[in-house]
Amino acid sequence: MIEVKNINQSYTKHGKKKILENINLTVKEKAITALIGSNGAGKSTLLGVMSNLIAPLSGEVLIDGTDIRSIKPCELAKKIAVLKQTQHINIRITVEDLVEFGRFPHSKGRLNDFDRKKVKESLAYMSLTGLENRYLDELSGGQRQRAFIAMILAQDTPYIFLDEPLNNLDIKYSVEMMKVIRSLVTELGKTVIVVLHDINFASAYADYIVAMKKGRIIGEGHPDQVITKEVLDKVFDHDFNIVSYQGRNTCLYFDCVS
Ligand SMILES: Nc1ncnc2c1ncn2[C@@H]1O[C@H](COP(=O)(O)OP(=O)(O)O)[C@@H](O)[C@H]1O
Ligand SMILES: [Mg+2]
Repeated sequence: MIEVKNINQSYTKHGKKKILENINLTVKEKAITALIGSNGAGKSTLLGVMSNLIAPLSGEVLIDGTDIRSIKPCELAKKIAVLKQTQHINIRITVEDLVEFGRFPHSKGRLNDFDRKKVKESLAYMSLTGLENRYLDELSGGQRQRAFIAMILAQDTPYIFLDEPLNNLDIKYSVEMMKVIRSLVTELGKTVIVVLHDINFASAYADYIVAMKKGRIIGEGHPDQVITKEVLDKVFDHDFNIVSYQGRNTCLYFDCVS
């Protein structure tokens, strides 16, 4: 179980400009939690703090009751896998090399048979079998993103944090990716936190939504409790219309020319 307790964060010395303000959150197990909110709301910073990549000004993040700061990085990497918003990979590597990186916390760079089995399984799960020897720059955007998720899967952690995994994906690949993320929960029993820009995807695929604005949580709960005019107008400073589609709240956020 992951619990976030009274987290405050600032990038300025002495904490003048608060980026996260008194964040409290209990992450739902074996479910998808979607983080939504406008640019700069603090979503990536929150994921960073929750994975011990960013030190908070105050507060703590507990995993099964233990403060994550007291867990060795290599042990924490066996519990939480993080796909950052932008991947800074400048070297030319193959899909297989990338996915093998995911095994690093387990293999320390020397893969055994079990590690290779995990790599193979992750590639197969993400429908990348046959593309192992392709270089990342030879893949379509959708395939490349699947390769990154395969790397995360190879890490074999109960918790998976994905920061805007739909970035640069077209509609078909975005829907495909959301289905895969859903299956991580339903088939593999993972606990997923995903930052999403598309609030309708959050409404359709998430079990729980956390809406952030200016470093605070403005609303959280079941999609139908958060995808409401009242919450969304406030979170995005915008005028929303909510309609029901297949039993879930869906939002429209523009008017057509008349
Ligand atoms: N490394 C950093 N140094 C200074 N300010 C930062 C840094 N990273 C993010 N910020 C600022 O913190 C705020 C929240 O950023 P971020 O967590 O990336 O928001 P989101 O992911 O919701 O768009 C923004 O105002 C951003 O400019
Ligand atoms: Mg972000």
